[in-house]
Order: sequence, then C-alpha cells, then structure tokens
Amino acid sequence: MQEKYPVPRLAVAAAMRSSRWTGQWVTLAFAIVATTTWPAYGGEVAGWESNQCVACHQVEQLPISLGHSMSEWQASSHARSGVGCEKCHGGNASIAARQAAHEGVLPSSDPKSKVSPHNLAATCGACHEGQYEAYKDTVHAKQVASDSDAATCLTCHGSMATSYPSPCELKARCGVCHAEPVQAQAALSWLAAAKTHLLRAHRAVDEARSTAPDWYPGAVARFHSMEKDLAAIELEWHKFDMEECVKQSRDLLSLGKLLEEEAHLKVKLKQEMAE
Ligand code: HEC
Ligand code: HEC
Ligand code: HEC
Ligand code: HEC
Ligand code: HEC
Repeated sequence: MQEKYPVPRLAVAAAMRSSRWTGQWVTLAFAIVATTTWPAYGGEVAGWESNQCVACHQVEQLPISLGHSMSEWQASSHARSGVGCEKCHGGNASIAARQAAHEGVLPSSDPKSKVSPHNLAATCGACHEGQYEAYKDTVHAKQVASDSDAATCLTCHGSMATSYPSPCELKARCGVCHAEPVQAQAALSWLAAAKTHLLRAHRAVDEARSTAPDWYPGAVARFHSMEKDLAAIELEWHKFDMEECVKQSRDLLSLGKLLEEEAHLKVKLKQEMAE
C-alpha cells in the first residue's frame, strides 16, 4: 500500500510511521510541541488594530505545530490585501473576548472546520472563484471527501498561499499517488516557459515604444490578449487538464516569441535608418 506523502504538515507523522526508532521521534515531537512557539516577530501588525483575531493572536504564543505561523500570515499577499484570519477560519473578528470571537472557529482536524481539507477549496473559492470552479469537479476534489491527503489548494499553495510548486517539487507533493507526475511536470515547465517569453515580449515591446509609435498600440493590445490566454491556461492547470495546458502554453510561447522578434526588428530598422 502507498505511504502517505510527506507534505510538510505531515512530515513528523510520516517520519514516525516509517522510522524504526519510533520512540525517539515521539520524544522529539513532544519536545518540539512543548518548547517551540510561534516565532517572535516585529511588534504590532500595522493597520490591523481593529481586528481582534490579529490583536490577540499577535500576543498569544501558540505552539508552532499548529499549521502556519503569525509571521507567515503577516508576510503573505493575504495580509497585504486585507484578508484576516476570520476569512479562512470563521469566527467574529470584532469581538475581543476569546470564546465569543472563536464561535465557529474549529481546528482543521474537525471535518466541519472551514480549513479542513474537506472544506478548504470552497473556503478559498469564496474569493478565488475561477480556480475553485476549475478544481471542484476534478478527481482530486472528489477524493477529498474520503481521503484528507488528496490534492487540494493546500497541497500546492500551503496554508498561507505563499508557495507555488516547481516542476521538481511536484514529485514530493504528488508522488505517493503518482510515482512520477511527468505530465504535470511537463505542463508546469511549459507554463513557466510561456510566462518567461511573455515577460521578454513585454520588455521588447516597451523598448519599441518610441521607435515604432504606430506599431506600438497594436502590439500592446496583442500583449494584453496574451495575458488573458495565460490566465486561461492557469485555469486548465487547476482542472488538471495537463495536455491542454501544454498545448496552450506552447501556442502562447510561440506568440510571445513572434511579438518579441517583431519588436526587435522594429528597433533594428529604425537604427539602420538612422545610420
Ligand atoms: C482574546 C484572545 C483571542 C482572540 C480574540 C482570538 N483568539 Fe484564537 N486563540 C486564542 C488562544 C489563547 C488559542 C489557543 C487556545 C484555544 O484553542 O482556545 C486560540 C486558538 C485559535 C485557533 C486554533 C483552534 C484549534 O482548536 O486548533 C484558531 C484557528 C484561532 N484561534 C483563530 C482565531 C480567529 C479566526 C479569531 C478571530 C475571529 C481568533 N482566533 C480570536 C486566543 C484568541
Ligand atoms: C488564507 C487562509 C488563512 C488565513 C488568512 C489564516 N489561516 Fe490559519 N490556517 C489556514 C489553514 C488552511 C490551516 C490548516 C493548516 C494546515 O493544516 O497546515 C490553518 C491553521 C491555523 C492554525 C492551527 C490550528 C488548525 O486549525 O489547524 C492556527 C492556530 C491558525 N491557523 C491561526 C490563524 C490566525 C491567528 C490567522 C490570522 C493572523 C490565520 N490563521 C489566518 C488558513 C488560513
Ligand atoms: C477573503 C478572500 C480570500 C480568501 C478566503 C482567500 N484568498 Fe487568496 N487572495 C485574496 C486576495 C485579495 C489576494 C491578493 C490579490 C490577488 O493576487 O488576487 C490573494 C492572493 C492569493 C494567491 C496569490 C499569492 C501570491 O503571493 O502570488 C494565491 C495563490 C491564493 N490567494 C490562494 C488562496 C488559497 C489557497 C486560499 C485558501 C487557503 C485563499 N487564497 C483564500 C483573497 C482571498
Ligand atoms: C496541483 C497544484 C495546484 C493546486 C491543487 C492548486 N493550485 Fe493554484 N496554482 C498552482 C500553480 C502552479 C499556479 C501558478 C501558475 C502560473 O505559474 O501562472 C497557481 C495559481 C493560482 C492562483 C493565481 C495566483 C496569481 O498569481 O494570480 C490562485 C488565486 C490560485 N492558484 C488559487 C488556488 C485555489 C483556490 C486552489 C484550490 C481550489 C488551488 N489554487 C489549487 C498550483 C495549484
Ligand atoms: C491521494 C492520491 C492522489 C494525490 C495526492 C494526487 N493525485 Fe492525481 N490522481 C489521483 C487519482 C486516483 C486520479 C485518477 C486516476 C488516474 O488518472 O490515475 C488522479 C488523476 C490525476 C491526473 C489526470 C487528470 C484526469 O482528469 O484524468 C493528473 C494530471 C493528476 N492526477 C495530477 C496530480 C498532481 C499534479 C498532484 C499533486 C499536486 C496529484 N495529482 C496528487 C490521485 C491522487
């Protein structure tokens, strides 16, 4: 039978299961839980004074074994964009008393928790509708009901969405069920390559701005349409349609290359005329 795969939150449990020195791991795990607290970080979180979850949790030191840390949240796009604890965990952020504030907040191990693997996609999906719509009918989304280790948003993004998997990381994250997730690795590599070419095209179009003022607006429009293509490919990825993801990424890469070459040509012609 398959081993459970070692995403970070399961690392200690997996090590305990597979280690011959289980006793030592248990002792070590207890030592970590007992002595390690959320890392201290630089003072009050500015701008969040009226959010009671943040106000109290920045003072309370919870064991680090519990999910993410306060500083991880603080450093994330979510904190920067005004997404407080209550948006993912529930509860009432305007109440200062712990018990009343925690009404509806359940540990992620409880299947009814908003952040349990069973409900997580819908919780994230409240704001990331496109990704959720793409994901919700996939094999993996259906698997979550019976297997809390099935692939969900957390598997790839971590609880704070501060992480994107790289092609070689996919093996660690998906490898239990797919010994060699080659299709997904290929898809991610092509997607990354397409993104790189889009950036290069952007730079080249910018450089041609003053050189080819009549060509420039059309080029910008083409670039924006490619950005839309990229967003669409991202959704194919969240559907796990890797073939489509590769195909569309390759097409986008070609378009990006063409635009970049055209831009360079415009600049070159101008330079030749000036000589
Ligand atoms: C007055 C302080 C205080 C406030 C306000 C507060 N918390 Fe907590 N919270 C704690 C303490 C202490 C613990 C650990 C003990 C416990 O579970 O009650 C905790 C635990 C938690 C846990 C872990 C639950 C578990 O059982 O594993 C989560 C999640 C959480 N809080 C989220 C929130 C959210 C979201 C809010 C705002 C809606 C909030 N907290 C408001 C003090 C607070
Ligand atoms: C973007 C969503 C999101 C936000 C925002 C968020 N959390 Fe979490 N949090 C999670 C997820 C998902 C888990 C489960 C993590 C895991 O299993 O690794 C979790 C786990 C926790 C835990 C461990 C207990 C448990 O239920 O597993 C605590 C405590 C906690 N969060 C507190 C907070 C506090 C305090 C804030 C605000 C400062 C916050 N969270 C903001 C998504 C979020
Ligand atoms: C209350 C709304 C809300 C919820 C709930 C929420 N997000 Fe977000 N998320 C945002 C906003 C706002 C941003 C920042 C702007 C943007 O990039 O769209 C963001 C950014 C992101 C990013 C880009 C991060 C980056 O730094 O590039 C990812 C990935 C992401 N969220 C995934 C998740 C996941 C996974 C969950 C659930 C655990 C989640 N979000 C829950 C609103 C939300
Ligand atoms: C199999 C891994 C995987 C899973 C599962 C996954 N994502 Fe993603 N997600 C990615 C990758 C990789 C990207 C970045 C693609 C790229 O390079 O453009 C991404 C991009 C995103 C973005 C866009 C961020 C931006 O920069 O605009 C959001 C939002 C997001 N994911 C949310 C979610 C949510 C919500 C879920 C769960 C319903 C989820 N993802 C599940 C791998 C995954
Ligand atoms: C808990 C087991 C499990 C995990 C973890 C898992 N998968 Fe899957 N995956 C499956 C099953 C079962 C299927 C459906 C049968 C098949 O096609 O092999 C599947 C199918 C797929 C498919 C084919 C999609 C389709 O609709 O036919 C892709 C691509 C895929 N997984 C990628 C991933 C990636 C990427 C990850 C890591 C983020 C991952 N899987 C993690 C079990 C898993």
